[in-house]
Formats: sequence, C-alpha cells, structure tokens
Amino acid sequence: MSHMSQARDAAARAEWLRAQLQHHAWRYYVLDAPEIPDAEYDRLFQELQALEAAHPELRTADSPTQRVLGSVLEGLAPVRHVVPMLSIQTETDTSAAGARAFDARVRRELALADDAPPLQYMAELKFDGLAINLRYEAGVLVQAATRGDGETGEDVTHNIRTIGQIPLRLRGKAPPVLEIRGEVYIRRADFERLNAHQREHGGKTFVNPRNTAAGAVRQLDPAVTASRPLSFYAYGVGEVRGWHEPPTQSALLDAIAEFGVPASAERRIVHGAAGLVRFHDDIEARRDALPFDIDGVVYKVDALELQRRLGFKTREPRWAVAHKFAAQEQATRLNGIELQVGRTGKLTPVAKLEPVFVGGTTVSNATLHNLFELRRKGVRIGDEVIVRRAGDVIPEVVGRMPGARRYYVPNFHMPHACPVCGSRVVREKGSVEHRCSGGLFCAAQRKQALLHFAGRRAMDIEGLGDKLVEQLVDAGLVHTLPDLYRLGVAELAALERMGDKSAANLVAALERSKDATLARFLYALGIRHVGEATARDLAQHFGTLERVMAAAPDELCQVSDVGSVVAQSIRTFFEQPHHREVVAALRSAGIHWPEHEGAAGAARSATPRPLAGRTLVLTGTLAHLTRDEARALIEAAGAKVAASVSKKTDYVIAGSEAGSKLARAHELGVPVLDEDALHALLAAGTTPS
Ligand code: IVH
Repeated sequence: MSHMSQARDAAARAEWLRAQLQHHAWRYYVLDAPEIPDAEYDRLFQELQALEAAHPELRTADSPTQRVLGSVLEGLAPVRHVVPMLSIQTETDTSAAGARAFDARVRRELALADDAPPLQYMAELKFDGLAINLRYEAGVLVQAATRGDGETGEDVTHNIRTIGQIPLRLRGKAPPVLEIRGEVYIRRADFERLNAHQREHGGKTFVNPRNTAAGAVRQLDPAVTASRPLSFYAYGVGEVRGWHEPPTQSALLDAIAEFGVPASAERRIVHGAAGLVRFHDDIEARRDALPFDIDGVVYKVDALELQRRLGFKTREPRWAVAHKFAAQEQATRLNGIELQVGRTGKLTPVAKLEPVFVGGTTVSNATLHNLFELRRKGVRIGDEVIVRRAGDVIPEVVGRMPGARRYYVPNFHMPHACPVCGSRVVREKGSVEHRCSGGLFCAAQRKQALLHFAGRRAMDIEGLGDKLVEQLVDAGLVHTLPDLYRLGVAELAALERMGDKSAANLVAALERSKDATLARFLYALGIRHVGEATARDLAQHFGTLERVMAAAPDELCQVSDVGSVVAQSIRTFFEQPHHREVVAALRSAGIHWPEHEGAAGAARSATPRPLAGRTLVLTGTLAHLTRDEARALIEAAGAKVAASVSKKTDYVIAGSEAGSKLARAHELGVPVLDEDALHALLAAGTTPS
C-alpha cells in the first residue's frame, strides 16, 4: 500500500471514529441512553487517540480526544459579548398573583384588549448555576465564556471543553455562527458523590452545588474542572448568523436539542396566567423530586416577534420573568413534642410549633420522624428550630438554630406505654420505629384504620372524615370496621354537629360503598405493605378473596412486586382469627364485588384484555377523562400505567399541556396517542393506522 493511500485511509478512519464518538457521547451524556457499552466507547476512543498520535495533522479542535488540553492558564482572558447577556427580572410575590402580574404587564405593554385570547408562554426552570455562552462556528465549539457583567465575560473554553454534555461539534447542519446560552450546574446526586469522595480522600467538602459549579468553571487548570461532575442546560441563544431562527422560544429550544445540546424536558408551552400558575404549582410540588436544585421558574413570551416588540428595560427583557417559590424553611419556636399513633401503631414524635408561614401555608405541627432522628437533631422544647415544608411533603423539623440554651431542658424520652391505650411500646431489633403493641385495641390505631378504610381509593365512604371517625370511636359507636355498617340514622344524628341530613347522607354513602371491587377491598383492609398497586395485582392474580386468603407465601411471591416481606405480612394478617372475623362480618354486611377467576382460571378469557402486558404512561390533561378514569380503563384492558417514560413504555397518552413525559417519549421514539386513539386502542388493542 502506498503512503498516500495509507494516509487517506487514516484520515477517513479518524473522521469515522470522531463521528462515532460524537454520536455515542450524545447518547450517553445528553440523552442518558447509551447504545454501546462503556468499554466499546473506550476502545473507539483509544483507537482515535493512537491514530492522532501517529498522524498529528489529523487532530481537529472538535475531536473528542481534545477535551482536556492540559495547560494551566495564568488568568482568564476577557471576552466581549456580541449580544449582551441580560439578566431576568424577579417576581417577588411567590403566590399565583406574581404570575398574574407578569401576564397583566405583558398584555398592557402589547396593548392587548381585555377580551384578546390568552398569550402563549414558554415556561421553563430557573437553573441554579453559572450562565455560559457557547460559540459554535460552522458547528464547531470555538469559544465558551461566562456572563461577567453582561457586556464582557471571561474565556473559559478550556474548562467547558471538559464537560461531556456539551458537544464539541453540533449535530446536523449547523449555521456559520450560533451562540447557545445556558447554565452549567451540578446534579444533587453528583454533588453528594463528589463530597463523599472528598471526605474519603481527606479533601475539603463543598458547600452547595451552585458555588461548586461556578468555581469549577472559573478554574485555571482544566484538569480540576474535569474532576467536577458538571452538567449543562441550554435556555437561549446569543449571536446568530446565517440561520433561519425558529419563530418561538419553544421551537428554538427544540432546535437546540436537535443540535445535540441538552435542553431540559421540564419545559412547557402554556396559555395565559392560569397556565403559568399551573406550571409554577406543578414544579413547586415536584421540586424536591427533581434531580437538581432550582431557583424558581422562568416565564417567557413564546413568540420571538412579540419579544422583539416588548424589548428591554435597561438590562432586563420585558418579555421574561423569574418566579420564585415560597421559602421552604423558616425558624420558629418548638412549644412541645407530642406522640402520634399511626395506623400500624408507629409512634411518631410530632413537634408542636409556634405557627409559622412556610412553603406557602401556616404550619403548626411538623414531624420529627422517630426518636433517633429527634436525638440526632438535638432539639428540645423551647428551642428555636428550623421548619421545612417542601411541595406536598409533610412539614418536618430540620434542626435547631445555633445558640446556647439559657435554661436546662430535659431530653425527650419514649414512654413505655402507648399514650392512647396504655399497651406496651415495642421496638423490633434493628428498627428505628417504636410501636404501640395494642393493635386494634388501641383507639388511635382504630381511628386510623377506619380513616384508611373509608378513603377515596379504598371503600370511598364520602363524608367519613377524621372529625367524624374521632367522634364515632370516642362515643363507643364503632370498635371494628363492620360496626360502620350497623350505624343507623338516629344514632348518627344524635352526635354533635350532625344533622338528620348528614346522618342520612352518611348511611347512603355506606350503602354505596358496599358495591366494591376486590382490589379496593384488599387495599381498604390496611394490610401492612399492601398499597393500592399491590392490592390490584393480588386481585388480578388470584381473582377471588378466598384464594388470596388461602395463598401460601411462595404463591403470593408470584405476584409482581410481592417479595417475601410483603407475602409474610399478607399471611400474618389473614392468619389472625380476628381479621378473618372482620372480613366475614364485612361480607355479611353486604360488601361485594364482581367475582372473576384469577390468572389461573379459565373464565378469564371471558373478559377481553386487549392490552395485556402493555405499559402506558399518561401525561397532560385529557379532554373527557380524569386521570383516575383513564387509568381505570387502561387497567381494565389489562395494561399497566407507569409513572415515567422509558424504553419499555408501549404508548404515551398525551393530553393538553403535556410536559416532560411527552418530550421524553419523542426522545425515545415511543408512540404518542391522543384521547381518541386511546379509545381505539382500548377497543381493539391496536391503534388506527
Ligand atoms: S434566560 C433574557 N432562562 O438566570 C434573559 N435564564 O437572572 C436571559 N437562568 O444569567 C436569561 N435559568 O444564568 C434564562 N431558563 C432560564 C434560566 C436562566 C437560569 C439564569 C441565567 C441568567 C440569570 C438571569
């Protein structure tokens, strides 16, 4: 082979390797869905490295081998931004009024009539990291700069190149100049891992993800940056040349994602103030479940044409606003500690607090979880404590404010007897939970059991809330679950705050609840570890109550998600004569459900299950069905409804204002159906073509 043709082959091979590595880096870092094993990626990488070492002229700036260049800089060079990097105005009113004020302001500035249709907005997350401008020329990353004062930032190209999520070359056909702007941040789990690593190696630990990300980007030695687990999300563009820009912010983000740059799937097109408020509430409720910290949400007028009309006010655009969430932590006084007895007897120490406004509501009780948590936090009555209420999570005491106590306060002790029924308090070996051993003898456990039984997803007894349960148990009218069905109107009407009408309503609700399903009934019994999903699986697997009650542990373990602990708990429950009596009494009170044979039975074929074995995901708002209705229909057809989209998802059913799940479905190529197609699917098991 001649030298020339060898060189040609090497060049072609290098180009092919670069393209492969770029593709797989995108799958791995951006989509989080690798197609090849890590070892195979490494093999390709090493081949390219060797090839470039033998032919240095083949090395290109966008080669994946060029991420860490090794030289330490003396300082960061200034970079003047062609398009200034602006900041965002912050709305200080964290309530819904904050979103309404922004919408009203935009409408006023656009001189829209009161009856003009709602404006379309792009709602995004406000990432908490460091703003970066990525400059791509002909698709190749040529420069990365911090925001600085907005006019002039710092050149951090050497560091940004170390971030795997940031492509060195854009995918597809890239314009001559495209600056992509976004935030470098650190995911919570990555941050925890980093600190764990630091602790193990005797290094200093970092205070929070934000400062760590900012510090890492501004390093002089790229090797230091490379050792920090940085992530990136794009939210806009800077200078653009030779590109037909999409007409909306939402389409712009879609295009950026197409170029292979990460854009968060937690973005949604919404309409009017109501849409903004819904997004704000939704994200606030899920805030702690997101894999990274956020600083609020950002609303942007979606149409770029309207953005241009609205323009800027000194350094902030009029078309965007950052909307924060109610503070999740506040300090207040711990007035006392009480014990709450749960349905299964668990004793939870509850902090009685000086009422304080936190996370959007007034909180006067907060959980201390268990004795060990309480001790760890070192809180005592009279202390100033920090209370946290995040989203829908139960308020908790995080710890005490610094400062010495002026008086001696005794530590809290677990009593030996249940504060409600006097039964012995026990703690299983290795468990942090103290329990009342009284079972249904304990009025507190009885009350909780009744409330659970009456719950919407259990027997759904309308009107049987905690006040009434309290009264019924305290008045001695109800000892066990079947007692509920012996209640008469006269008896009930004699209770305080109970009129004839409410009494009659309750009796009617009790009557209605008798028309049940096996799954609901199993769930309503309150068997430890048997949640709604397990109850449904049990009902479907065994078909009849008798079979569930008679099943041996190994038979129970054949039900999906039932392991030995759950199986044992079911066995223990049904082995107790008391529970068998309760079940029998409930059935003779008239509780019934449609009987059908289980998976083993032949009668099963009588019910068509067109979607057996499939997994569907629901997202957004359907026009004619509630979530629960859609779920019931899908499950009746034999399919599972999953909470998140994965490669195993067969269909995503999307309604209006569908968000991240829809984006994820598109990413993974999962078919997306609307409500009509869902009905077709339910009927036939296939989609109309
Ligand atoms: S847009 C035209 N979108 O917030 C406004 N910024 O206070 C330009 N940030 O420097 C920024 N998430 O670092 C925008 N979804 C988002 C954002 C976001 C976080 C940061 C960004 C910016 C600062 C503005």
